[in-house]
Formats: sequence, structure tokens, C-alpha cells
Amino acid sequence: MKALLCHEFGPIDTLRLTEVPDPVPGPGEVIVSMKAAGLNFPDTLIVQGKYQLQPPLPFAPGIEFAGTVRALGAGVTGFTPGDRVFASVNWGALAEQVKVPANALIRLPANLDFTPAAVLKASYGTGYHGLVTRGGLKAGETLVVLGAAGGVGSAAVELGRLLGARVIACASSPEKLAFCRHLGADAVIDYSHEDLKERIKALTGGAGADVVYDPVGGDHAEPALRALAREGRYLVIGFAAGGIPRIPLNLALLKQISIIGVFLGGWEPHHREEFAADMQKLMEWCCSGRIQPAITRTLPLSRAVEGLQLLARRQATGKIVITC
Ligand SMILES: NC(=O)c1ccc[n+]([C@@H]2O[C@H](COP(=O)([O-])OP(=O)(O)OC[C@H]3O[C@@H](n4cnc5c(N)ncnc54)[C@H](OP(=O)(O)O)[C@@H]3O)[C@@H](O)[C@H]2O)c1
Repeated sequence: MKALLCHEFGPIDTLRLTEVPDPVPGPGEVIVSMKAAGLNFPDTLIVQGKYQLQPPLPFAPGIEFAGTVRALGAGVTGFTPGDRVFASVNWGALAEQVKVPANALIRLPANLDFTPAAVLKASYGTGYHGLVTRGGLKAGETLVVLGAAGGVGSAAVELGRLLGARVIACASSPEKLAFCRHLGADAVIDYSHEDLKERIKALTGGAGADVVYDPVGGDHAEPALRALAREGRYLVIGFAAGGIPRIPLNLALLKQISIIGVFLGGWEPHHREEFAADMQKLMEWCCSGRIQPAITRTLPLSRAVEGLQLLARRQATGKIVITC
């Protein structure tokens, strides 16, 4: 089979599509033929050795994918070859075949295509977990989404609208903001040159936002936090800008703000049933059209490097999916 291999940590363009032996399932494992894999910002970091996980070399990046069951290891029950499934892994999804523990597989409904299924976990799963489980977002509240045209951000915009919030989408260019409007954002802010705090305040009549969803971090974090309403919630999702913000904690005290860490990958192993129920709900919403993943580009595995470079260069909007 072919896999997009990282032979040494370094620039994305050093990844090579390489012929490797087919993986063999061990006890309790399943081999899945990958049909579609969603790209995510951590894929760009892990190959550069800049992520919290450093896999043994060589390895293929890629953390979420959908496909068909190909082979079962000893002791695996409940699946047969050909079954349509979705799964996530720490790395390895950018390959024609992916080895996963059987208990990580989620069966796909017949009417859910591989391509949207491949982006349901990292973006929508994180969005649902962050906004609902961790953030307690309620209908009628104001939600500010940073990096709102990105993969995680665009899903949060869509989910925020679906949950009945008023969504203020923040991004770095007119094109990205137009994309956010298309997703349903009620208002937009170009934080590349507008004063983020003042604009949020102005758009909320001075009251401030109820919830901030932040996958970007860097210099935008503190102004966004300062623009929260009393008892607002700040959802820490990620640090795509690179810098990990240092927040003066008196800000949390003065307005009784909650700063809430959101880490789906760390929560899921301890809440398997709740996670499975959340994913079932997202799959139902996707099948019924209530959410429509903003997949702006599909590329074959042989061109996955192009997709990763778009993410790393901040040029992507919505989700990019790699197909086999
Ligand atoms: N906590 C969790 O469970 C969880 C789950 C999944 C992902 N994440 C994290 O969420 C973050 C976003 O992931 P993603 O897949 O949505 O990425 P993405 O599609 O690339 O979106 C990230 C956005 O961040 C903004 N950005 C600001 N500075 C940037 C820079 N120097 N380079 C790249 N983008 C920059 C960009 O928007 P503008 O140009 O508009 O600023 C971009 O659209 C990552 O940090 C990821 O690790 C966390």
C-alpha cells in the first residue's frame, strides 16, 4: 500500500508518498481501507516535530478518516469486511490502509458519504464538546469564534447557529469573512486590522460576549477575553497562531469569567459512551442536512502535501479532505 511518510521531522514538502507493506491486524485490531481523511492543523505540526506527540519514524500523519473494513484481527467481533466506518487515530490516516483498535470504530449510516464523515470528529466533535458539554452554550447567547474560517472554527460557527446562538465570526481577511457569512455568521470582525475587543463590545451593545471559542490563541486571546460579559466563558481550543497566551488572572476574578480547557482527545477515552452519543447526534445532523461540513477542497493522497501546506500557510478555508 501507499502511505504519505514522514522520514524525519522537518518541512511538510519532505513528506513522500511511499510504497510500504500492507499492515497486519493484531488481536483486537482492524485494518480499514481509507476512502477519505480530513486534514487538521496538528498534522502540519506533528511532521515538523512541533506537536505534543512525536511518533517513531517513519510515520504517516493524519488523525481522522472514513473507509471500509478490510481485515479483522483475532477476537474482533461485530464487524465484517466491507463495513463502512469512521475512526480517529493519533497518526497514520494519510495512507491507503489504516490499522485501528476495533473499539475505536464508529459505524457509518448508509446515507452518510465518506467525505463528510471524515471531518466529523476533529472539527464538529470538538465544536459540540466545547460549546455544549464544556461551554454550556445556550440559545440566545452571543458566541465569538476566532479563526472562524478554519476547520475547527467553521464548524463552531455552524454549530453555534444551530444551537441558537448569535455568532460573531472573527478572521483575518475579507475573503475569510465572506466565507463565515456564507456559513451563517450574524456578524464578522477582521481581527487583522480591527480592534477585536472594541468591535465585540460594539456588536453586543457594550455587554460583551457570553462565550469565546478560541482555536487561535496568540495576540487575539487577551482582547477576546476582555470582551467577555460578566460570567462569560472562554473556551481554550488551540494555539494555531503559535504563541500560548499568558492571561492576567485578575480578569477572570473581576468579571467572574470561566476559562475552560477543551481537549476532545483527552476527554474521549474517559467518556466513551457520551462521546459515541455525541458522534451519533452529529452524524444524524449531517445526514439530515442540519450541518453541512464546509469541505472546500478534496485532493488525492498523492497531493496531500498541497493540502497540508495550505493549512500551514494560513491559506485554507473550511476543511480539506484527502481521498483514496
Ligand atoms: N482542543 C481540541 O480538542 C482540538 C481539536 C481539534 C483541533 N484543535 C486545535 O484547533 C486549532 C485549529 O485547528 P484547525 O484544524 O481548525 O486549523 P485551521 O483549519 O488551519 O484553522 C486555524 C485558523 O487559525 C488562524 N491562524 C492564526 N494564525 C495562524 C498561523 N500562524 N498559522 C495558521 N493558522 C493561523 C487562521 O485563521 P485567520 O487567518 O483567520 O486568523 C486559521 O484559519 C489547532 O491549534 C488545533 O490543534 C484542538
